[in-house]
Amino acid sequence: MDKKIKIGASLICANFAHLEKDIRELEKAGVDYIHFDIMDGHFVPNFCLNLDILRLVKTLTDLPVDVHLMIDNPDVFIPVFAKEELHALSFQQEAEYHIQRQLSYIREQGILSGLAVNPSTPLNVLDYLITDIDVFLIMTVNPGFAGQKIVPATIKKVEHMRNLLEKAGIEAEIQVDGNVSFENIPQLVSAGATMLVGGTSSVFKKGMTITDSVQKIRDLLA
Ligand code: DX5
Ligand code: ZN
Repeated sequence: MDKKIKIGASLICANFAHLEKDIRELEKAGVDYIHFDIMDGHFVPNFCLNLDILRLVKTLTDLPVDVHLMIDNPDVFIPVFAKEELHALSFQQEAEYHIQRQLSYIREQGILSGLAVNPSTPLNVLDYLITDIDVFLIMTVNPGFAGQKIVPATIKKVEHMRNLLEKAGIEAEIQVDGNVSFENIPQLVSAGATMLVGGTSSVFKKGMTITDSVQKIRDLLA
């Protein structure tokens, strides 16, 4: 695992009036990957991107894309999204019965397997899955909306997750998603996060250019 702290851009926060322009600026600014949220209006009370937009994005950029499924029936859609040459594919622990089966399937497709846990979900649900997961997605807000405030207890949760992995001798990515702001990034990284999802509170911060925002994050990480 590359230990570099990776900066991702949460695409639901981009300006869809000029998506290609935003993607060009993300590339120029040097983000490491695109975070692509899928919502079904059921697991979360909201809708956002879809498969067609994913395919469009894949024609516009070679940036690695990680898909985050916030849907009720991941088993139905994991095979669908796994065909789209993804860097990583995550689904919510709370939404799936056969988690180990889905994680193995994702890996078999040559994609990093990711599992997301809501702020209220304890880490012991991962006890027998710790070697099946490449990306531990710790939701730092309750999923479904950009622009929320971080759930403070999740910062400690990231630290606990990193300790669990170190005790098990496992090197894996810890991704944080939700209000990953300039203020919260130093704490989240020192707690053990390695993949940042930058949305309205950093990469797409109002009143700043994407280039300046990403540079500000790089300066914080330096
Ligand atoms: C929320 C999404 C996040 C969101 C982050 O459910 O999964 O990716 O876009 O946006 P901010 O940074 O505004 O919280
Ligand atoms: Zn997300």
